[in-house]
Amino acid sequence: MINSRLSLFPASTRVVHDRLSIGGVDLHSLADQHGTPLYVYDRAEMDASAALYRELLGAAWPGHWSVTYAGKAFLCTAIARWTRKQGFSVDCTGAGEIGIAVHAGIEREHILVHGVNKSAADLLAAVQHAGTIVVDNLSELSRLVELSKTHALPDLWLRFQPGSSVDTHAYTQTGHSDSKFGMNWEQIVHAVGICRQNNLPFRGLHFHQGSQFRDPEPIGDGIDRVLDLAQAIGVQDGWHLSPGGGWGISYHEDDLPNPPVELYVRFIAANLQEGCQKRGLPLPYLHLEPGRSLVARAGVSLYRVGTVKQTSGRTWLLVDGGLADNPRHALYGAKYSCLTVDRPLEAPLAPVAIAGPYCESGDVLIESIPLRAVNEDELIAIPVSGAYHISMSSNYNGARRPAVLMITDGQAHLIQARETISDLTRRDETLDF
Ligand SMILES: Cc1ncc(COP(=O)(O)O)c(C=O)c1O
Repeated sequence: MINSRLSLFPASTRVVHDRLSIGGVDLHSLADQHGTPLYVYDRAEMDASAALYRELLGAAWPGHWSVTYAGKAFLCTAIARWTRKQGFSVDCTGAGEIGIAVHAGIEREHILVHGVNKSAADLLAAVQHAGTIVVDNLSELSRLVELSKTHALPDLWLRFQPGSSVDTHAYTQTGHSDSKFGMNWEQIVHAVGICRQNNLPFRGLHFHQGSQFRDPEPIGDGIDRVLDLAQAIGVQDGWHLSPGGGWGISYHEDDLPNPPVELYVRFIAANLQEGCQKRGLPLPYLHLEPGRSLVARAGVSLYRVGTVKQTSGRTWLLVDGGLADNPRHALYGAKYSCLTVDRPLEAPLAPVAIAGPYCESGDVLIESIPLRAVNEDELIAIPVSGAYHISMSSNYNGARRPAVLMITDGQAHLIQARETISDLTRRDETLDF
C-alpha cells in the first residue's frame, strides 16, 4: 500500500535517511526553511509530461498540432515561462490570466483566451494581447463585431457544445446540452454567418466536454458532432480544431494505474483522421489543451500537524492548511492520499482523518487514511497537488496563500512567495465610517 502511495508522487521521489525527497531535495528541510503549507513542484516531472504529449502528438497526428497549457490548472509567471520552454501556448481565462501571461513575456501568438462570460475588460485584453479568442456565445460575438471596428481582431474559434459529456463529477462536465459553456449547432451556424458577414477572422472550432475523465470514448461523439458541423459550415484548408483538455490522472492508490495519456491522444488522432476522411474534410490543425495531466502529478503539498484530536468516531490530524489552498475535497469530494514526510515507509497502524484549521466542517483534506501513529509537529505530504489547488485558493479565515517552490537540477527555487498579513489589507481603504 505504501509503495503504491509513493508511486503517486513525482517519479524522482525517494526515501533518503527515512525522509521523503523529491529531485534530490529533502522535503523536511524545505518545510523548515519555507514554512507550511507549502507547495513543491518537480520540474523534471512537468518536463516529462510535456515531452510525452509532444512525442505522442508528433507520432499520432500527420498534420500540424500544438499544445496549449490550460492556465486554470495553475498559472504564475514561472509556469507561464515554462510553457514556452516546452513549445506550448497558454490558455488564459480572462484579463487576469492574460495579465500573468503578458507579465511572463508570452508572445501574442501563444496566448489563447477562454471564458464563458468575458467582460469588456477581458475582451479588450484578449484583443490587445492574444493570438486566439475562443468565442463562447453570440453576445460575446456581437461585442467582438463592435471591437473589430476599432481593433484588429485575433483569430476567432467558436466554442461548440456537442451535447455529450464525459464521465466525471457533475461540476466538471461542460459539454452537455444544458451546460453554460459554448454554443449549440444552430448558434454556431448563426455565429459563422455573423463572422462571414463582418469579415471576422473565423478560423476554427473548439469543444471541451469536461475535466478529470479516464475513458476517451465520449470524445468520439464530440468529434463526430463537431466534424458534422465543420462539414455543414464548410471549413477551409488550414482550419483549426481543439477538442479541449480534461484527461484525468489518479489521485489515490485505489485509482491506480494512471490513465495513459497515449490512450487519449491516440484516440483523438485516430477518430479525427477517420472522421475527416469519411466526410472529405481537410485535416485540421489539431490543438490539445491539457492542464491537470501536465502539472498535477508534479505538485506535492506539505502540511504540519498542529493537533491530534480524538473524537468519538475518529482520530483527526489537524494540519495548517486545507480548504483555503485546496478546496477540491469540499467542491467535488476529491479523494486524496498522503505519506508522512519522516519515516514514510513505516507500516500504517490505523485510519486517521486529516483536516484544516478553517471554520467549515467541510474543510477536510482526507476523510480516512491508514497511517502510522503521527505526532503533533510532524509533516504530511499530499501527492497530486499540482492542479486546481493554488489556482482555486482563497483568503478564507485570513489564510495567506502558500509559497510555491520549483525543484530543478537538485535545487528548490521559490516561484511564488507566501502571502503575508499585509497582503490581506493591501486593497483596503483606511476609511472610518
Ligand atoms: C476549455 C478548457 N480547456 C482545458 C481545460 C483543462 O482541463 P484539465 O486541466 O482537466 O486538462 C479546461 C478545464 O476545465 C477547460 O475548461
